[in-house]
Amino acid sequence: MSEHRSFRPGLEDVVVAETALSWVDGEGGRLVVRGYPIESLAGHRFEAMCGLLWDGALPTPPRAEEIRRGLGDGRAEAFVELARSTAALDAADAMESLRAGVAALYGRPEPFERTSCRLVGAIAVWLAAWHRRRLGLPPVAPDARRSHADDTLRMLAGTPAPPAFVRGLDAYLVTVAEHGMNASTFTARVVASTRSDAVSAVVAALGSLKGPLHGGAPGPVLDMLDAIGSEERAAAWLSAELAAGRRIMGLGHRVYRVRDPRARVLETALAALEAEGVASRYLALARAVERAAVAALDAHRPERRLRTNVEFYTAVLLDALGIPRALFTPVFAAGRSAGWLAHVAEERAVDRLIRPRQRYVGPLPEDAGGGRPLAAVG
Ligand code: COA
Repeated sequence: MSEHRSFRPGLEDVVVAETALSWVDGEGGRLVVRGYPIESLAGHRFEAMCGLLWDGALPTPPRAEEIRRGLGDGRAEAFVELARSTAALDAADAMESLRAGVAALYGRPEPFERTSCRLVGAIAVWLAAWHRRRLGLPPVAPDARRSHADDTLRMLAGTPAPPAFVRGLDAYLVTVAEHGMNASTFTARVVASTRSDAVSAVVAALGSLKGPLHGGAPGPVLDMLDAIGSEERAAAWLSAELAAGRRIMGLGHRVYRVRDPRARVLETALAALEAEGVASRYLALARAVERAAVAALDAHRPERRLRTNVEFYTAVLLDALGIPRALFTPVFAAGRSAGWLAHVAEERAVDRLIRPRQRYVGPLPEDAGGGRPLAAVG
């Protein structure tokens, strides 16, 4: 029997990969993507972020144009491919529908970037089609000439979105595209490490992102703001939730011990929208609830600094952009898929099967000592 090895559930603080993609500084509250602080990237288009993640450098104008065309073609191809699996559009949950829809894509003998564009494109095409199906409307075919954020909003609404909305969605997609070894990225890397295909890695990552402790939080953040309703009710409502043993959505993080830097970036995007006349109906209340929630959590868990995470202002920003809350997690996937694919490429280069160990705590047969082992690793 192997020796006892220390174990904490959740792989907390375990290093599972080396990456050149991003650095999440939990104590300092910094997110650095390929050398750039996230604050400096939020004014870029999503296409530029794809270039940064996939190539290792911010794209030159011709390269950015190539990526824009690649994503446009990806959406167009996905629109044709997805037509054969429209039954999955009937799923009541957008993430279940998205997972099933993307699973219908095939791997093809084509360059990795082409598959990546098809996958990123498929997510945008699918979430828009799911939304319109629920409204009883036909899907809108992609327009490959438009930027990804622009066309995503157009496929959702059926009409082109004002430039301020496109900038807002670009800021969001860029902000969430990459964030270290989060659960869905790890999932994608595990699949890639088996030399499986990129479609399978993204489908698995979608399943991981769906959970309320990961990408499923922003919808419930808006539900919480609705339930609280007004600033005066915040403290009492939050205390009651904590007393009932429930978690406050949009707060707490496995790595950050300070406020998530992306919360500030998304607030800046909200301010930019406001300056262009698109005011959020939730922003003032959200700020008050954030203050009350931090105070309530400080009182509830004084030894653990639980601060605002990205999902809190994700909810407020996506709502201001007119995106319904059922689509918040799929839109998160639309941005994060660029990061997943960069990790898949990185993991392929490592080419080492991810296969950790476990600690067996079940009974042993008599010939192996009998009884209950305390720490059999294997
Ligand atoms: N509300 C109430 N309690 C919280 C909390 C929250 N938002 N976040 C953490 N806690 C509690 C945990 O329940 C845990 O208590 P326990 O020791 O009694 O079980 C304690 O604080 C320590 O948690 P911690 O180790 O810091 O968090 P984690 O790494 O296990 O979980 C999250 C991180 C993100 C899953 C967690 O903070 C959470 O569930 N947040 C709400 C969901 C959310 O916003 N998810 C989006 C993440 S980007």
